[in-house]
Amino acid sequence: MTLVIAHRGASGYRPEHTLEAYRLAITMGADFVEPDLVATKDGALVARHENEISGTTDIASHPEFADRFTAKMVDGRCVTGWFTEDLTLAEVKTLRVRERLPRLRPGNCRFDGRHKVPTFEEILDLVAHEGRRRGRAVGVYPEIKAPSYFRSVGLPLEEPMVAALRRHGLDRPDAAVYVQCFEPGALRRLADLTWVPLVQLIGPRGAPYDLVAAGDLRTYADLVSDAGLRDIAAYAVAVGTHKDVVVPSVVDNAHDAGLAVHAWTLSDDVDEYAAFLAAGVDGVFTDFPDIAVVARSAFAALGDWRMLRAGVAAMR
Ligand code: G3P
Ligand code: CA
Repeated sequence: MTLVIAHRGASGYRPEHTLEAYRLAITMGADFVEPDLVATKDGALVARHENEISGTTDIASHPEFADRFTAKMVDGRCVTGWFTEDLTLAEVKTLRVRERLPRLRPGNCRFDGRHKVPTFEEILDLVAHEGRRRGRAVGVYPEIKAPSYFRSVGLPLEEPMVAALRRHGLDRPDAAVYVQCFEPGALRRLADLTWVPLVQLIGPRGAPYDLVAAGDLRTYADLVSDAGLRDIAAYAVAVGTHKDVVVPSVVDNAHDAGLAVHAWTLSDDVDEYAAFLAAGVDGVFTDFPDIAVVARSAFAALGDWRMLRAGVAAMR
């Protein structure tokens, strides 16, 4: 069955990376919730898409943090603002979350100021609690963000993430966990640290930052060549590919290399689900888990992507 992975929670309906976004995704039937992880100054893992948090929190209106405003190079880009690695977890917890994409998701802005930034531990607790309550496995699919950068500032992400999984009894190959990353180097380190299945993310263009920094000329396109997929299969069980990269030949080649394919990020367009399910992907990251769950059922029942649209319309 194609996995439904709630991308940053049910982020089409709630500000992303909040416990409420994850909880709603589980209520909607998502198999996995996806937190992006960065580190605080004291090494706690928190869920944010970026370590610069002026776009996702109210930190700009906290005068006590005015002196933390700064500019840094992160993954080869100059970034200006406030950074998780300059605040302790206790300080991060004084902030409140804002919708990151208010023009795209104006409805989510009504939740601005209500929620705190969750820790990875809180997310693992939530997933365990909701799974027990519902009598089904609810998985977690963490992505470590900018691992080379965080390691360079003395805050490696891989070890504390694995330690947290271990504390929750999840460092097992059969746990409902996938760990994803764009950087092959971090995944290779993780392969030595953990039993959980790993996923190599594939961007729509360019190359992983750790390869660029090392002068390695391989791009994401090279990673999904036949040789690239064989390399990935040595440390990962799946590729998490941008939806522009998912063409039937890539799906077939990945499957031939023994890799599953999880595509990101699907929207509320039912035609997208029809196309990706028909292409044979094994999982979809979605901002709209309710639509993905219904589309998956319709596809399974009808067995014909041309009828999926009508089937989803009837089931919604
Ligand atoms: O992890 C899949 C996808 O989420 C990767 O991109 O930028 O949405 O974290 P991003
Ligand atoms: Ca992600």
